[in-house]
Formats: sequence, structure tokens, C-alpha cells
Amino acid sequence: MNVVIIGAQWGDEGKGKIVDYLAQDAGIVVRFSGGANAGHTIVLSDTTYALHLVPSGILYADKTVLLGSGMVIEPSALFAELEDLKSKGIQWEGRVLISDRAHLVLPRYRQVDRELESKRKKPIGTTGRGIGVAYAFKASRDGIRLADIGDEDCLQNLEKEDKAYLAEWRPRLEPMAVDLVSYLHQHQNSWTLFEGAQGALLDIDTGTYPFVSSGMSCAAGAAAQGGIGPRKIDRILGVFKAYTTRVGNGPFPTEFKDDSPGSLSSYIRTTGHEYGTTTGRPRRCGYLDLVALRYACIVNSIDRLVLTHLDVYDELPEFEACVGYRIGDKVVQDFPASVKDLEQAVPVLKKFEGWKQPIDSCQSWEDLPLKAREYVEFIEDYTQTPISIISVGSERKKTIIKESPWIRS
Ligand code: IMP
Repeated sequence: MNVVIIGAQWGDEGKGKIVDYLAQDAGIVVRFSGGANAGHTIVLSDTTYALHLVPSGILYADKTVLLGSGMVIEPSALFAELEDLKSKGIQWEGRVLISDRAHLVLPRYRQVDRELESKRKKPIGTTGRGIGVAYAFKASRDGIRLADIGDEDCLQNLEKEDKAYLAEWRPRLEPMAVDLVSYLHQHQNSWTLFEGAQGALLDIDTGTYPFVSSGMSCAAGAAAQGGIGPRKIDRILGVFKAYTTRVGNGPFPTEFKDDSPGSLSSYIRTTGHEYGTTTGRPRRCGYLDLVALRYACIVNSIDRLVLTHLDVYDELPEFEACVGYRIGDKVVQDFPASVKDLEQAVPVLKKFEGWKQPIDSCQSWEDLPLKAREYVEFIEDYTQTPISIISVGSERKKTIIKESPWIRS
């Protein structure tokens, strides 16, 4: 069975925790896109693991994790992360495999990334990891895939230092290389989790272009880049937070205008630990944008939503969520493509009463306070998508499962 998990907002929705939770029942975890721009935080016992390239299933000793064909991988960053995991007691050797169709990021791409960014009149706010550069080379057919690392013909356009860099890492990379398509075909009876990076609104095609990342963060990416055909996907889960955040630049209709100390924005940032895992940048915060979430559900065929960070609202007497955009003299519920429209959109807000009590010990749907359940049900109604998992704290056990994605309906 193949379950896909993607972010349904602008990334940082808590996918790492959910993948980690659901990986308990999976045999294989495949990360299908992105690179070291991503950051997944998992808290286990007293240890916090910050993953950038390695799929979240790595923390279970019996899981095989694969870096998929849509990923762009900087070898030095990958091995630094693996060494860090080892120092925290995670034995990864033999369990981390890399699609031989994945592209490699060369160290100089970071510099090119920063130069491109500095020339933009409206910078994107990239993570500076050379990700866009790697995808640009891939699209212009000048990239280097793991399969080609030892093929002189494929390396002929590279600089001397690039070749030296690849030659240095080749002995460690090649034993981890695998033909992802045939590997997954051979393991088609396993339960496999396909983990997306970033979020649907940062996807190169479905996101708020040009303020997006360069990979496929949409569910379709799991098929194109995860090594399986589209018909093999059994279930698609979209993860979203009770509110919205965004790192970097670009339109964000529900962003709080007031970010001063003591504001709701700064309260949410502090309570929700809304600082980038990769860059440490404070995340921009705003109310839940249901227009954007509904769009993410439609464009990704999301079967079930996963709500995270609901506990961040525990102390609020009331809060709001966006149910439409006022653009000029029209109110729309369809998410516009135009950056200008998104920048001009004034959110139409609906008020909700808070539950004013801690929910982190709730173990079931029935345990949740009525007001919290009403919020969840409103989101389900608006998006026409059931919410099957609710996360009420960062630890693995603080997760309410209404319906397991591993059960075929
Ligand atoms: P890049 O992926 O480094 O090129 O950055 C492009 C945009 O995507 C920037 O706004 C980044 O802040 C954003 N971005 C990239 N990766 C992530 C992520 O994992 N979470 C949230 N935002 C991200």
C-alpha cells in the first residue's frame, strides 16, 4: 500500500512528526523531492532530530529509507547529517538508499543561488542551499545524476574542482545507489510512505510562483519522482497547521499586520516555535487560510487532512480563519494565480471561540473540547475533506488518530 504525505500550506506544517508517527507501520519511507532546503524536526524522548535530506522514517531501526529521484542532494550535507544521526545513536548504514536518478548539488551552487538572489529586485528569500540552481541545471540538461557520477562523458562540462568534489564522495555514494523504480516494484507488497518536502503552495507548478521552491512538493510528485506510477497511490494526506506560516518572501493574504512584541503574531511564533529549522529565520504568521487550503485539497486530490499545532491556540479566547478573499469588488473562494491578486486580497474572516484549556493530553476525538471540535468540523465542511489525524503536541504520543491511512476504504 502506498500513502503519500504532503504539506498543504507553505511548508513547515509538521510533516516530519506525522511521517515519523505513520512510519511505525510502514516498511519503507521515500522522500520524493527537495533538498537540504527542507527541515523536519522530530522530538523523541529528550532528543530533537533536525532532518534536512534524510527521510523521517530513519529513526526506526527496522525501516529502509530512500532519497527519491526528484531530490537534489549535496553529498557533503547528506553525510554531515548522517554523521550527526550516528552521534545520536541512529545506525543508518544499509538503511539509507538513494535513487540513482536523483541529482547532485555541487557546493558552488550555493554561491550562484546567493548571487541570483542578490540581483532580484524582489528576492524570493531562498534558503541559499543552491536548490533552485540544481533544479535549473536539471531542466537545462546540465545536471549530474548519481547514476552518472562515474561517467566521464556526463562530467565533461564540469570544472576541475567539481569533478574533484564528486570523485571524493563517489566511493561513499555509489554503494547507496539504487534503481528506485525496480526497488519499489520488487517491494510492492510493502507499506510505503512517500514524504513530500515543503508544501503545495511552494510547488513550482501549483504554488505562488515565482515565490516558490523549485521542486515538486505536490502529491503528483510522489508518482513522478517517488518511483511509482500515479495509479499506485492509494491515499494522499495533506498536513496543515491550525494557523498559517510562511518563510521567505511572497504573498500571504492572512499574514498578521502587527508583529510587535505582545501581538498575536509573536504569541503564535513563540508558542508554536515558528523559526526555520534550516535557516533559523522567524516565520511569518497568520490565521488559517481556508481558501488556500481548499485549493491545496483540490489540486492534490487530498483524501484526508492532518491538522497539527492545534494546541498552539489553547489559551486564546477567540481567533479567526479566512473563508474568502475580497479582491477589488469581488469576494472569491478560488485561489488566484496572480501574485498581484494575492497581494491585494483582503481576507474575509470568520470568528471562532477558543477552548481555553490545554489539549495536549487528549487521546481521542471525544477528549477534545467542544470548541476545538467545532473548529475542526468547520474546516472539514469548508474543504470538503475529512481530517483523520490531529496533532496536539510535538511528541510522537501527542497524536489523535481518527482514522488510520493504512486501512483501505
Ligand atoms: P529555496 O527552496 O531555497 O530555493 O527557497 C525558495 C522559497 O521556498 C523560499 O521562500 C524558502 O523560504 C522556501 N522554502 C524552501 N524550503 C522550505 C521548507 O522546507 N519550509 C518552508 N519554506 C521553504
